[in-house]
Order: sequence, then structure tokens, then C-alpha cells
Amino acid sequence: MNQDKTADEKPGGGYDPGGVRRQFAILGRNLAWLDNAATTQRPEGVLRAMDEFYRKHNANPRRSVHQLGTEATAAFEGARARVAEFIGAESPQEVVFTAGTTAAINLVTDGLARWDIGPGDEVWVSAVEHHSNWVPWQQAARRMGATLKVIPLTPEGRLNLDEFETGLQAHRTKWVAVAWVSNVLGVANDVQAVCRAAHAAGAQVLVDAAQAVAHLPVNVQALDCDFLAFSGHKMYGPMGSGVLWGKRALLEQVEPTVFGGEMIARVDEATSTWAEVPYRFEGGTPHVAGAVGLATAIDWLSEFPPEAHVYVADLARRAEEELAALPGVRVWGPRAERLSLVSFSVEGVHPHDVAQVLDSRGVEIRAGHLCAQPLMRRLGVESVARASFFPGNTVDDVRRLVEGVRAAQELFT
Ligand SMILES: Cc1ncc(COP(=O)(O)O)c(C=O)c1O
Repeated sequence: MNQDKTADEKPGGGYDPGGVRRQFAILGRNLAWLDNAATTQRPEGVLRAMDEFYRKHNANPRRSVHQLGTEATAAFEGARARVAEFIGAESPQEVVFTAGTTAAINLVTDGLARWDIGPGDEVWVSAVEHHSNWVPWQQAARRMGATLKVIPLTPEGRLNLDEFETGLQAHRTKWVAVAWVSNVLGVANDVQAVCRAAHAAGAQVLVDAAQAVAHLPVNVQALDCDFLAFSGHKMYGPMGSGVLWGKRALLEQVEPTVFGGEMIARVDEATSTWAEVPYRFEGGTPHVAGAVGLATAIDWLSEFPPEAHVYVADLARRAEEELAALPGVRVWGPRAERLSLVSFSVEGVHPHDVAQVLDSRGVEIRAGHLCAQPLMRRLGVESVARASFFPGNTVDDVRRLVEGVRAAQELFT
């Protein structure tokens, strides 16, 4: 189902942000799209792959014996195999297609975690978690009478793993949920160390890779986590596509949470048995075009040369430096380590006002609590502004960002 790509669509072979940018029709609007951490835009190749699925191969997969049904099944399962290869899974059967990171995490908390925790047990999240990797654990712990604990931050804004390791309780700490890359602070957490410590205490680890997959090579076996979740739309794939990867033996223990068509082996009047993993978690007609688009996005992303990622980190660092040099601007998180984004506050100017002034100049950033209210409270703010980059952004986008922030300061202070 992969599309043939013409030479000028390939980002590889000599890094050129212009060549990447031209593949995004939406960026023809002369917008500086600096909200890539919320959602990336989609290159033409991904849009075409999805379009082609609907135009040429559309049918319900894994149900129909006709030609189109067979083609749709091949497209869907081909996409699963591509995802498995991308994340270093042992087999495509470890890959569950979901609607995104949030749905993937809820499948683990509802289908497994909450059945094996109870009073006296602990579930850990980290201080930087997005609500999607906080509230499901909070609710599971609350319902089952377990305690939710939080990996704190060091003064520089890194996860305080010493405190975490000291606080782990063998046989009582059951789950640890941690973001690989914070959507606010923008730095990579040492999730391998989290996994090692958690496993030594007998706990299982879910890694939220939503902000990592577009920027870091992923190998679930090297990470040695138990579950990993990510969204297609933050890595050039479609909205409504996403993945839960889990170790096969653990996926076998997850109870399905969505019941209905095609997730069953047999239905009797009073009882049912389930299809194999991962199909038992994909009840109802799945988002095949989404899976196809995600696989195409993976192909596309995989062609970036390493320089593209270095370039994005350089843009983020440049933004960090230039913003931090403005009087009254505070940049959040450890300095000079960010992969792709920078969150900041401007003294005397509400982040929404900063964002609005920037928007009036065609610079699109995110402002708000960034779905990380517990972290905002630790930082002592209600909300922040965030600029996030991808390999099609330019140094000129950074210049427009910094000039826009200065203009906001002039207007409001
Ligand atoms: C770190 C992190 N986790 C989870 C999510 C939720 O992703 P989705 O809305 O695609 O489910 C986001 C989205 O911003 C995120 O940044």
C-alpha cells in the first residue's frame, strides 16, 4: 500500500527544509507552523495513501472473502507489520491499532492494570505526565483503592530518579507510567532507567511515546518497557490512528474493553470467547485508512537523514536561547537538551495573548496548560506558551517567533 515517491518528495539524501516543507500543501499558506507537538501536518504522500485506500481498496478487513476485502486485509495487516518493524517489536501480533495514545493507555488501565491493583498497592506516574497518562492511572488507583505516587522533578526539571528508586516498594509498586519525552519540558527522560528500577521492584512499565516517536529511534526491546503507546497524528500520520504495543505475554492478560464485531472467537447466548491478540482489542470496523496512512508516515519519517533531527533540535535550541535572552521571558525545563520544543512564559503577558499576537503574524504556537495541570502547578504557573518544530521549519520561523514575542511584550507591558 506504500506509495511510489517521486525523487523530490524524499527528505533523505542531503537535508533541505524547503524540500520537506513543499510536501505539505497546508504550509503553502505561509504559516509558521510551530504547533507540531500538538499535531504535525501530513505530507502529500500520506494523504495520497489514504485516498488511494478509499478509491481502490476500500472494504472491511478480516471479514470479507471478496477481492476488495482481501486487499483491505492485506493493507491493514501490512500496516501492522510496518509498525512492528518500526518499533522493533518481536511480532506484528504485539501491535494493537487504537485511536491514539489516550485510547492505548486506557486499554491498559481498564483492561489490565485495574484488575491487579488493590488497597496497599502503588501506581506511579511522573510529574511531567500529560493528562492522558495521568488521569487513567489516577482513576484506576482511585477505583481500586491503590495509591497514586508521583516521580518528582529535580530543580533543573529532570525526573528525580533517585527519589523514585528509593520510593519503590517491592511487590507493592505494581505499575509505573512515564512519558519518554515531556510535551511541556521537551527533554527525553531516561525511560530505560525507569524500566530497570521498576522491574527490579516487580512493577510493569507503560511508556508514553507520543512526543518521542517523531524524534527518537524506537526499539521496544532495547527500552525493555512492557507497554508503549503513541499517536499517528504527532508523527505525520492521520488523526484517529495510534498504537498500543505490549509484550505478548502481557497482552494475553489484558481484558478487552470494547466488545462487538470481529473481536470474538465464538458468541453464545450467555458467554463469549475472544479472538487472538491483538484482534480481540479491535472490536468494530477499524480505521484501515488510518493504519495505512500511519504506515506511510513511518516510511516517510524513516527516510529523514539523522541531520534532520539534529536540525530540529538546533531550531529548538536557537528558540530557547533567543527567547531566554529577552528580558522577562522564562524558558521551562533543562537548558540545551530539548529535542524539538520550547515552553516559555512572558512576564506580564498571558500565554493566550502571546499566542494571539503571534497568530496575527502567521506564527502558530500553543498556549494553555498543555494538558499537564499537575506539572503547571509544580512550575507555579497556570499555563505556558509552547513552540514546537519539525524538519520543515526554518530559522526564519524562529525569527518570526521571537519578534512576535517582543511585539506581544510591547503591546501588553
Ligand atoms: C505526551 C503526550 N501523551 C499523550 C498525548 C495524547 O495524545 P492523543 O490526544 O493523540 O491521544 C499527548 C498529546 O498531546 C502528549 O503530548
